[in-house]
Amino acid sequence: MIKITSAEFVKSAFDRSHWTTDGRPEIAFLGRSNVGKSSLINSLLLRKGLARTSNTPGRTQSINFFLINEKFYFTDLPGYGYAKVSKSMRSDWGKMAEDYLGDREELALCVQLIDVRHAPTAHDKQLYEWLVHNQKPFIVVATKSDKLSANELARSLKEIRKIFTVPKVIAYSSQTARGRDEVWAELLSAAENR
Ligand code: GTP
Ligand code: MG
Repeated sequence: MIKITSAEFVKSAFDRSHWTTDGRPEIAFLGRSNVGKSSLINSLLLRKGLARTSNTPGRTQSINFFLINEKFYFTDLPGYGYAKVSKSMRSDWGKMAEDYLGDREELALCVQLIDVRHAPTAHDKQLYEWLVHNQKPFIVVATKSDKLSANELARSLKEIRKIFTVPKVIAYSSQTARGRDEVWAELLSAAENR
């Protein structure tokens, strides 16, 4: 299991001229607003306030880079699908994500987050199909598993796996750290084999 010797916020990138240039592998966290991306990052790193979490969805508009053990980066992407942002903001998300995910050579793995309590949204499915079509290595992390009973969780994971047939789907909870070892195993193997 990984020992986190250092985890630091490096920068917020608002366009590609701000992306890091040192060539270290990157692991990107993607998912709709409020799904728990920042919470997952903090939980994986055992650092409570490193990635900003909030009850106000749609806040993060930049790609935030975190350097882990001076070896690889986590990138926290803005959430998509927040109903109250304007249409143009929504297509901006697509442009930004495609720009970054499309040809970022450092990208070792994408982590697509979905809320385990709800059926995947149209936008979740769109992202999933884009990742499959573009042959991006990715896993799906089903967040907030602490909010379901064991039975509900099993049922929900079964439904999710029917739709997300390609990647590995891992149930997670940022509250209990359920799934943490399993997710780390995937991240490390991706970062090391790049
Ligand atoms: P944006 O940055 O706005 O896109 O949101 P985000 O995806 O980073 O979500 P964030 O981590 O800020 O979490 C949103 C809310 O969900 C916060 O109130 C978290 O405390 C809560 N939350 C996140 N993960 C979990 C989880 O595993 N269990 C429970 N119970 N709550 C969670
Ligand atoms: Mg966030």
